Amino acid sequence: MARYAHIVGWGMAVPQRVVTNHELAQFVDTSDEWIVTRTGIRERRVAGPQESVATLSIAAAEEALAVAGISPRDVDLILVATATPEHLFPATACLVQDALGASKAGAFDLLAACSGFIYALHMAAAAIRAGTHDIALVIGAETFSRIVNWRDRETCVLFGDGAGAVVLKGSEALGGVLASMIRADGSGGELLILPAGGSRMPISEAVVRDSCHFIRMNGREVFRFATRVMEKATREVVAQAGLCLEDVDLIVPHQANIRIIETAAKGLGLPMDRFFVNIDRYGNTSAASIPIALCEAVQQERLKPGDTVVMVAFGAGLTWAAAVVQWGMPLARPRPPWLERLARITRYLPAQLHSRTMRLWRRFDARMSRLLQREGE
Ligand code: ACO
Repeated sequence: MARYAHIVGWGMAVPQRVVTNHELAQFVDTSDEWIVTRTGIRERRVAGPQESVATLSIAAAEEALAVAGISPRDVDLILVATATPEHLFPATACLVQDALGASKAGAFDLLAACSGFIYALHMAAAAIRAGTHDIALVIGAETFSRIVNWRDRETCVLFGDGAGAVVLKGSEALGGVLASMIRADGSGGELLILPAGGSRMPISEAVVRDSCHFIRMNGREVFRFATRVMEKATREVVAQAGLCLEDVDLIVPHQANIRIIETAAKGLGLPMDRFFVNIDRYGNTSAASIPIALCEAVQQERLKPGDTVVMVAFGAGLTWAAAVVQWGMPLARPRPPWLERLARITRYLPAQLHSRTMRLWRRFDARMSRLLQREGE
């Protein structure tokens, strides 16, 4: 019997702090007028000292699980798509697993930059279809504010921070992820790169002096690549689903530049009102951009159960990806906010206690084994 991966929950989290174009223009040589006309961005969210990719991922995941009415103990796969992980290792997905108390889940990070969320959705849906996993949490989360050079006007105006998550559940009912594709062309890797911080160029005084620990981008070339693949990937994935463009209710594109979205709309011969756009308020949140847009499309009733939605993205790598999804139903009935808060405290407090106990136990166990070893000598 065929299995399908349905989206049954969704959630998002963005930092509190809003940074407007006007604020940026106070410390970098730019203007609100330039940023709005060239990109469509008016403001973005920037993570504060207490916020990080893990805290945003956890908040988005908790919301998605609440919408799905699914306990974290039933999740068996956690994927975090991010180019700005909490650390190189452990994976941010493991920090999410621990915070949620998802004791049955395997967890790992996936790096495909702005295409990361669709890459992760593609892999999780394949695992569900294959029957190796049943419930997956797919998260796209970024804090690009931590890797942009705030003195480089060509990049710092573009990016923002945030996270979005969906819960995928296996079912024999037709629907969910109907088709998806992932692609890469590594020959364009240097067009958008974070040169240092990996094993090729570890952080050193020279690296910091030369600003190699910040993003470098050839904006014009990335723009040309993006306009090419957005249209191509949309057509390809819609055909793969056995549909035509007229069957698509909404396109949720990666929010990098309004001009890229407008060019894709023109190429596809579709009106702009078939595209969901929120770039004005968040900028480019990389892997988080599509799941955040999905959540807002649901909030604004642009995306309803049964609708056919296309997601399409491009990013560093170079990578691109697209998916066709028949939008699902939230499994849980909405609860009053106070009850939801209470439910979350009671649900996640045991996970925190368990995590602390495990850390203490590990320390105690290590000390005991050292003592026993000394006694044996
Ligand atoms: N404020 C004012 N002027 C600026 C700014 C700024 N923030 N940035 C660049 N300029 C100037 C340039 O210096 C240049 O000046 P010059 O003509 O005197 O040399 C002029 O504006 C035009 O520069 P262009 O690069 O031609 O501007 P363009 O219209 O191409 O817009 C942009 C630049 C917005 C970066 C565009 O190329 C773009 O959106 N590219 C795609 C970037 C992208 O999507 N990146 C994310 C990929 S996803 C991921 O994986 C993270």
